[in-house]
Amino acid sequence: MWCPEGLDEVEAELLGPPEDLKGKDVLEIGAGAAQCSRWLTAQGARPVALDLSHRQLQHALRIGVSFPLVCADASVLPFADGSFDLACSAYGALPFVADPRLVLREVRRVLRPGGRFVFSVTHPLRWAFPDEPGPEGLSVSASYFDRTPYVEQDDEGLAVYVEHHRTLGDRVRDVVTSGFRLVDLVEPEWPDWNTSEWGGWSPLRGHLIPGTAIFVCERD
Ligand SMILES: C[S@@+](CC[C@H](N)C(=O)[O-])C[C@H]1O[C@@H](n2cnc3c(N)ncnc32)[C@H](O)[C@@H]1O
Repeated sequence: MWCPEGLDEVEAELLGPPEDLKGKDVLEIGAGAAQCSRWLTAQGARPVALDLSHRQLQHALRIGVSFPLVCADASVLPFADGSFDLACSAYGALPFVADPRLVLREVRRVLRPGGRFVFSVTHPLRWAFPDEPGPEGLSVSASYFDRTPYVEQDDEGLAVYVEHHRTLGDRVRDVVTSGFRLVDLVEPEWPDWNTSEWGGWSPLRGHLIPGTAIFVCERD
């Protein structure tokens, strides 16, 4: 699943036709509990699920894995050059790092020539709106151009959650200057069958403004 809109890889085929995934080495970035890697395994691919959070990887282990889990920062990937055919990330790592170009360059490095990296992030337009699923989430409340990160702190003032904003132009520039070709930019529309709310994502907002941007990138 790429996003709260409900677009899945069976429908989207952004990594290519599912039958072509067989035998492919795939790196999942910011894997969380590794749902995507579990699906990739079922298609015959050979995924490696990477996350910075040890706790998330423990969840992955508890659910069950038949592929390697790697605890590492996506900005410093512990793999040799050209180790993977494909890389993917569903809302993993990229929204949470101050300089996403570090991640993009690392992913490019570990991909083989012709390799594809597909990643989804919150659609940059959402930054200008309150993160609310109801009507209050439909009025512009901040500047789309303000790149000040969103930070939540604990009682001691330690940052416990940080999200970084990039405009759509920033993201395209990040991809291209990191050595990728942008093959597609998908803005999934909210389907009528999806009646669920998840954080600031809801049918109300989803029918009016994009909630997710999926970047399909290829290296030469
Ligand atoms: C919103 S969750 C998405 C998890 C999963 N891809 C999914 O679809 O459920 C973001 C994940 O990115 C991970 N993450 C954040 N920064 C990271 C980094 N610098 N390197 C690797 N993983 C990171 C977090 O630990 C978290 O598991």
